[in-house]
Amino acid sequence: MKLLVTGGCGFIGSNFVKMILAMAPANQVVNLDKLTYAGNPENLAEVAGDPRYTFVRGDICDASAVEEAMAHRPDAIVNFAAETHVDRSIDSPGEFIETDVRGTYTLLEAARRHGLRFLQISTDEVYGSIEEGSFTEESPLAPASPYSASKAAGDLLVLSYVKTFGVEALIARSSNNFGLHQYPEKLIPLFITNLLEGRKIPVYGDGLNVRDWIYVRDNCAGLETVLRQGKAGEAYNLGGGNERNNLEITRALLALAGKGEECVEYVSDRPGHDRRYSLDCAKARALGWDPAHSLEEALQETYQWYVEHRDWWQPIKSGEFKRYYLAHYGDL
Ligand code: NAD
Ligand code: TYD
Repeated sequence: MKLLVTGGCGFIGSNFVKMILAMAPANQVVNLDKLTYAGNPENLAEVAGDPRYTFVRGDICDASAVEEAMAHRPDAIVNFAAETHVDRSIDSPGEFIETDVRGTYTLLEAARRHGLRFLQISTDEVYGSIEEGSFTEESPLAPASPYSASKAAGDLLVLSYVKTFGVEALIARSSNNFGLHQYPEKLIPLFITNLLEGRKIPVYGDGLNVRDWIYVRDNCAGLETVLRQGKAGEAYNLGGGNERNNLEITRALLALAGKGEECVEYVSDRPGHDRRYSLDCAKARALGWDPAHSLEEALQETYQWYVEHRDWWQPIKSGEFKRYYLAHYGDL
């Protein structure tokens, strides 16, 4: 199997590329990545010299860059490339519309031209917030942020290409991922690295928003299952089955760091902040997938990885992240 993976230098994409290459000697990956602030070639340093891995630097909105990647003749496309941070989408929505909508369209056109299977990596955030019960794949899309709205638009384009052009495309909607190589703007790596730096950790609002956390390796296993066995025109929910509110995650991280509640700073809430995400994953489980890691073990492993990889996150936190954070909050 030769895959064109887009956004492979990001958090989930890099974990996925390494998993695919480790799965079978015949597997090959072409990685098309623009290297935005979130793309880091170091995430794939361990496979950079593997002859089965090819890197193409380019933008998924640029049809000629996509064609350059296509020249490597992949069998399928897996689209991870996206702008992904809700807070940044509130500050500057334009890049989200560009990459998450136009980029998806550009890749779908390539899949159509070349007759390729296409897996769109989407998110539970497209369903919006749910007070009770869980979303199935049939639930209506009701996104609340420019990020989730642009991902929902991408999903709708995918489904239109199945119906109108017969493209063999499908969608995976994952819940909140965590694990190694996650950019320290997201809740878990931000809090871990702040605690390691002796900083406070900013909890939005009352801290009672609920997310369903999935360890990135479990998500990648689910994505591979959906890619291989999923049906064109269908979406598949991939949740970890670990619903926790933000204060519960905060307390678990404080315990790992051996620190107390005095490190918590309650800050003003995110505008449009979704209260709760929850996924019914029976459809993906029927394909034979199930998350294998417990939240507690995976959090411990993740915490330890950040303890041991300051060389990975410190340059980010004193560089691009610091500039973003100062512009956003005006303070550190
Ligand atoms: P990330 O922000 O860590 O990485 C995004 C990657 O995409 C980077 O390597 C970046 O350089 C690349 N990229 C961005 N714009 C590009 C463009 N125009 N052309 C080419 N490359 C571009 O993202 P992530 O957290 O790994 O998320 C990957 C995918 O999974 C996204 O589609 C996201 O919506 C989805 N997702 C993420 C989560 C999560 O918790 N992180 C949950 C559900 C779904
Ligand atoms: P995040 O990691 O940004 O993922 P998403 O918004 O896509 O779910 O945030 C996870 C939860 O943590 C969300 O409810 C917002 C909250 N949060 C904080 O309380 N403080 C923070 O500094 C961040 C980044 C997030």
